[in-house]
Amino acid sequence: MRRTPLIAGLAAVSLMLAACGSDNTADSGGSSPTAAASDTAAARDTAAASDTAAASDTAAASDSAGASDTAGASDTAAAGGTEVSASKVGDGGAGGDVGVFTWWADGSEKLGLDALTKIFSEMYPNNKFVNLAVAGGAGSNAKAKLASDLQAGNPPDSFQGHAGAELTDYINAGQIEPINDVIDSLGGDKVFPKDLLDRLTVDGKIYSVPSNIHRANVVWVNNEVLTKAGIDPKKAPADIKAWIADMDKLKAAGIATPLSIGGTWTQVELFETVLISDLGAEGYTGLFDGSTKWDDPKVTTAVADYAKLLEYTNTAADGDDWPPATDMVIEGKAAYNVMGDWAVAEFTSKGKKDGVDYSYWAVPGQDGVYDFLADSFTLPKGAKNAAGTKDWLMTVGSKEGQTAFNLAKGSIPARTDISKDIFPPYQQWAMDEFKSATIVSSIAHGAAVSLGWNTAISSAISKFMATKDQAGLQTDLVSAASDNLG
Ligand code: GAL
Repeated sequence: MRRTPLIAGLAAVSLMLAACGSDNTADSGGSSPTAAASDTAAARDTAAASDTAAASDTAAASDSAGASDTAGASDTAAAGGTEVSASKVGDGGAGGDVGVFTWWADGSEKLGLDALTKIFSEMYPNNKFVNLAVAGGAGSNAKAKLASDLQAGNPPDSFQGHAGAELTDYINAGQIEPINDVIDSLGGDKVFPKDLLDRLTVDGKIYSVPSNIHRANVVWVNNEVLTKAGIDPKKAPADIKAWIADMDKLKAAGIATPLSIGGTWTQVELFETVLISDLGAEGYTGLFDGSTKWDDPKVTTAVADYAKLLEYTNTAADGDDWPPATDMVIEGKAAYNVMGDWAVAEFTSKGKKDGVDYSYWAVPGQDGVYDFLADSFTLPKGAKNAAGTKDWLMTVGSKEGQTAFNLAKGSIPARTDISKDIFPPYQQWAMDEFKSATIVSSIAHGAAVSLGWNTAISSAISKFMATKDQAGLQTDLVSAASDNLG
């Protein structure tokens, strides 16, 4: 029986819900104004443990955690379902060290990992989580270390990989094992979107457990800076040109850096969003299967728009990380930052209030388009503690794990059976958008292109920062595509 850990887990989630607070009343980005966090909802949705024992533990826990109605207990039991197999939850885990490799090494990203590892130790107390995180957003340092460890036959017990092309690289290289049994135990396509599972699957074999879904094409806005310049912070400009006009207004109002950027991968992310605006979702998606050519005139326009945007930014070195760029908006030193929605965790961790201090919208010209990426966790071939890894994967895929992790990380759950009511306004908006938007794949975050192609695009973008040679950038992009598409 695991009564105490579950109570602790519920209490922690209740605290996070309290932190979500009722002053999160933003209507920015069309987000729902109500942060309908309730203990009852928390109890229902945190009831990841699916066996009867867990369900009754959870029922008890919901009382202790102060669930406001007693019906919550039976709801919880009913909601338990069969997401996590009884034997896995009840057996305490395989035992031994479980070394997990990520790039969530510090700041708000570590808070997300910590929330997940806490649930792991509650669900599988026999195991010891060993944190192998290597700092550097988007895996800018981690991926090279991982590649050399895998090459040397020294894999971690599990590592973070992006759903889509990046994961396919690891599969094709024979570096990871199928884990269909774990996905089946978690509930398979009853609890994970089929499209997402497809991005983890080759020849019917599923190779990772998704932890979350992030959105890359979000503009984060400092409300005060815009308001002072006479611009409504909650209203997205219609397109890139209108956005640039606002940046001119900001410059005229004395804001030296309307748009903040970080190192190379953040520039790749900014560039991909300009591609989405200028090519449209379909044209953009065609870049990755050859149906849109990289020498298309619309790519030329995107390169020109990107070059123009760089006239409004700070200067950044290749290796600069993302938090300083987002912090420039948080601190009022910049008006805008294009960043994946892990940024919302940074705003929260600095005490900023959604709708009051900051707003967000999709990058202009792509309302209703969701530039998607998903983190997932693998079982590497030759992992020393494969049984412990499966415990980790069960945690990553559980309702409890996904609730705790995503509340802290800014992403939305990969699972479809977690109520949006327990999330703050940003994630509520993201969950709504994810359901209705056109989904495209991120270049910078492994969804659209392989590791090799990403490296080639990143080199081209880094070179462009120095040369500002627009024709040269397009030529480099064309050759990166031909090297990788064949
Ligand atoms: C992405 C990753 C996100 C977040 C981001 C910034 O690649 O998928 O979870 O960590 O990098 O580091």
